[in-house]
Amino acid sequence: MSNTDETKLPHGEPEIDELTNDRYLTDHEYDGIRELDNKLPAWWLYLFYFTIVFALVYLVGYHLAEWWPLQDDEYKNEIAAVAEIKKATPVETLDLENLIPLTAEADLAAGKETFDKICVTCHGKFGEGLVGPNFTDMYWIHGDSTNNKVTIRNLYDVVITGVIEKGMISYKDQLSPVQIQQVLSFIISLQGTNPANQKKPEGKKYDTFG
Ligand code: HEC
Repeated sequence: MSNTDETKLPHGEPEIDELTNDRYLTDHEYDGIRELDNKLPAWWLYLFYFTIVFALVYLVGYHLAEWWPLQDDEYKNEIAAVAEIKKATPVETLDLENLIPLTAEADLAAGKETFDKICVTCHGKFGEGLVGPNFTDMYWIHGDSTNNKVTIRNLYDVVITGVIEKGMISYKDQLSPVQIQQVLSFIISLQGTNPANQKKPEGKKYDTFG
């Protein structure tokens, strides 16, 4: 039952609610219940218009004109970019089978820097030994006893594997292969320096070292 006629004022203007000043909607009414044409706040409307514009730009930009890559393509592009970078900077590798101590000043200085930063706490300021063994004598725990020699390779394996039960962790993830070679070269250069407060020998005495 509609009473459209009643909602119009005599001179044809739509009826206004006295409380809210909103206009009544004229096209429907149910059992005397009528609906007001509430005005939406401007900020709400602008937000709404913005979402429409945004959706259009998004649709055209991502799906129709494809100005920008979709998430999947973006991921693929980044992977490709990383592959490019990796190709341009190959990972430094060491020839472990023929590893030798470095003797250049710069390498020993770099090795000392790593030693002073990480190894001193356990091996002593001058490699004299503390918690860890003395590096300045000919006694070694991890030498190659069958061939009666200690090579930089033997020590390299210790640094890579660590000796967890004795408190020495693996430095595989903290130091690059070259950094390990440098710090071991520095350690080897300490041989025979005879510093004060040396820790008592540990391991076995070897004849050949380096
Ligand atoms: C938290 C203490 C600690 C730190 C830090 C530490 N070490 Fe050690 N290191 C030890 C202990 C303890 C041993 C003896 C392991 C064993 O008894 O087998 C050892 C053993 C070694 C050995 C073998 C010595 C041998 O006689 O065979 C080498 C080489 C070595 N450490 C190098 C390093 C280097 C290089 C660093 C720094 C990057 C370092 N360590 C840092 C505790 C430490």
